[in-house]
Order: sequence, then structure tokens, then C-alpha cells
Amino acid sequence: MKFSTYNPSSIEEIKLLFTKTFSDSEGEAEGTLIGNLAYDLLTNTDGHDLYCFIATENEKIIGSIIFSKLGFEKSEVNAFLLAPVAVHTSCQGKGVGQKLINFGLDALKQSGVELAITYGDPNFYSKAGFAPINEELVKAPLKLTYPEGWLGQSLVSDKIEAIAGNSYCVQALSKPEYW
Ligand SMILES: CC(C)(COP(=O)(O)OP(=O)(O)OC[C@H]1O[C@@H](n2cnc3c(N)ncnc32)[C@H](O)[C@@H]1OP(=O)(O)O)[C@@H](O)C(=O)NCCC(=O)NCCS
Repeated sequence: MKFSTYNPSSIEEIKLLFTKTFSDSEGEAEGTLIGNLAYDLLTNTDGHDLYCFIATENEKIIGSIIFSKLGFEKSEVNAFLLAPVAVHTSCQGKGVGQKLINFGLDALKQSGVELAITYGDPNFYSKAGFAPINEELVKAPLKLTYPEGWLGQSLVSDKIEAIAGNSYCVQALSKPEYW
């Protein structure tokens, strides 16, 4: 298994991975939604505002993770939002997801990213160092339907400092259905 930065020539393959994986776990509609989100993120986001990493086995993409810029009105903190991540259904439960998240977080850290945020299952993401946060600490860019899933971790210290002001995400994620 190999972990690496994605190559733009693989965008269709990555879209298919997200569509298939989320269709398997949450139904076809969710699969289509998340496949389209991944495609939109990879094709409509400024390169400075995006990181995407892949796990490959025998040249085939079996996992992918996308991070996009989370900006703040009143702060220059360098923050990125992890969403989405998928490991092909046939390869799940073997530690690939965990390794992919850690690979991504290490790469972000080396690029000077200070804060990683995500929105998902606290039980899963706590295994990769994320802990629940609230909106007094870090404002979400859109209304959260599941505030318990708002999670973060500092990549530069053991504690997240409160960030003043509203946040904004990239255009591809600026839709209420993702939140
Ligand atoms: C979630 C996902 C990326 C995890 O990848 P994976 O390779 O299966 O995960 P790992 O094998 O690294 O599992 C790491 C740990 O998380 C746990 N875990 C895996 N999926 C989980 C889930 N959906 N909820 C809670 N815990 C989960 C595993 O039991 C494992 O725990 P352990 O180390 O104590 O045994 C993968 O299962 C997936 O693509 N699922 C469908 C899409 C999805 O839900 N994506 C995340 C939301 S954006």
C-alpha cells in the first residue's frame, strides 16, 4: 500500500471511489451526493485551498481524503477542514482509513497548517486525535445539524485557542445539505 498526493488525472477515479463507497454504506443518493462533492472540491477549488491524498494498491486507488481551506473573518490562523474521506468497502477495517488520515495530517503540518477541523463521527475521528469542539471556540461556516460532530485538533500545540469571528469554507462545501 502506498500513500501519496493525488494527481489531477485521477479525479474521475477518486469521484468513483467516493460514489461507490458511500453508496455501499449509506445508499445510492448519498453516494451520488458525496461523489459530486469530491468532484466539485477537486475541480472548483483554488490549489492553495486544497489537499487531496490517496491510498493505492497495485496502482488502484483504494482510499482518498480531501482537506479544504477554512477561513476566518478576524483571524489569519491556517486551518483546513477534513471532508470527505473514504476507503473502498472491500478494504475497510484494516487500518487504511486511520493511516490515510494520519498521512494527510502529517503533510498538512509540514506545510504549516495549524488547525484541522472535521465534521463527523466523534468515535471514529477521536482515534486520529480529533476531539469535540463548540462554536464558541471555532465557528462553523454553515448551520450544523449535528453539533456533536464538530471536531478539531491543533497541529501546533495541545490546545485549540478560541478563534474570534465567523468562518467560511470553500464554495464546493457551501451548501446546507453537507452540514
Ligand atoms: C470511515 C472509513 C473512512 C474508515 O476507514 P477504515 O479503513 O475502515 O478504518 P480503519 O480500519 O482505519 O478503522 C479505524 C478505527 O475506526 C473504527 N471505525 C471504522 N469506521 C468507523 C465508523 N464509521 N464509525 C465508528 N468507528 C469506525 C474501526 O473500528 C477502527 O477502530 P479500532 O482501531 O479500534 O479497531 C471507511 O470505513 C469508509 O470509507 N466508510 C464509508 C464512508 C464514511 O463513512 N466516511 C467517513 C465520513 S466522511
